[in-house]
Amino acid sequence: MSQIQTPQILITGATGNIGKELTKYLSNKGIPFRAMVRSVKDAKELTSFAEAEIVEGDFNDAESLKKALHGIDKAFLLTNSSEFAEQQQSTFVKVAAHTGLKHIVKLSQWAAAVDSPVRFLRYHAVVENLIRASGISYTFLRPNLFMQGLLGFRETIIHKGQFYGAVGDAKISLIDIRDIAATAGEALTQPGHEGKIYNLTGPESLTHQQIAEKLSAATNRPIQFIDITPEILLDTLLDVGFPKWQAEGLVEDYAHYKLREASEVHPGVTDVTGKTPISFDNFARDHAFLFSA
Ligand SMILES: NC(=O)c1ccc[n+]([C@@H]2O[C@H](COP(=O)([O-])OP(=O)(O)OC[C@H]3O[C@@H](n4cnc5c(N)ncnc54)[C@H](OP(=O)(O)O)[C@@H]3O)[C@@H](O)[C@H]2O)c1
Repeated sequence: MSQIQTPQILITGATGNIGKELTKYLSNKGIPFRAMVRSVKDAKELTSFAEAEIVEGDFNDAESLKKALHGIDKAFLLTNSSEFAEQQQSTFVKVAAHTGLKHIVKLSQWAAAVDSPVRFLRYHAVVENLIRASGISYTFLRPNLFMQGLLGFRETIIHKGQFYGAVGDAKISLIDIRDIAATAGEALTQPGHEGKIYNLTGPESLTHQQIAEKLSAATNRPIQFIDITPEILLDTLLDVGFPKWQAEGLVEDYAHYKLREASEVHPGVTDVTGKTPISFDNFARDHAFLFSA
């Protein structure tokens, strides 16, 4: 009987959007990994993977990170975006430097820069710099806007046939998170990605109007994009429960998109995986049932 080896790869954020896809990707390839979760009882899906060793760990608890990193060579670093993300990721890097981690694949963001007006882009750049200074070998994945972000508008799409943004007619080369996970999986398991920064985009650049047309075609019902002001966007995000820091960050993100700073198409996904990234038409077809009542 074949036995699963001791994992040398740690996946953080394993219960999140990208993390879930990444654990599936590694499992499908029969690669053992350790998944760090805040609560084992809330990570039931992971228990079905024979390749997964599940450990509890919290970015706010350095001691738990030390245990999660014990014996690990390579790690995927991802937290959600919050005002604590910079501190949490920095703690992880400092602990990893002590436990002897050899390689870190960090989920960053397209256009990360310490002087960006977008808070998310600033914190990602600060952590990237900390990793560079730590001496740990790295791969930085800088994805553009996630196609799956549209699922956040699921309710209004189903009930009103509408979704919203403060972006005008700017094009964005948005990406399917399944491609981000596949890129991370390759960077964690194949040589040649050390010291590399990959800009990750989909295969084309689309306006939100074009996104609405494609969603309408996939769901066979009219779906409209409504362009709103940054002020209304902020109020809407706060009304639906986004924390202030994150809602303001999303408004900054949209301002950056509106300036057409996120429209270029880059070959990062193909460079790493050898595959053409998933098109928005395919994303819409695969998720059409989720946008229908
Ligand atoms: N949305 C976009 O369009 C976009 C574009 C480019 C880059 N990004 C970047 O993508 C990242 C978010 O990726 P995602 O959507 O996959 O994230 P996500 O779904 O929000 O997942 C976050 C993960 O972090 C875990 N986590 C949260 N707090 C933790 C803690 N204190 N200790 C341990 N684990 C903790 C969560 O675990 P629990 O299940 O326990 O909560 C979850 O597994 C952000 O860094 C963002 O800047 C986003």
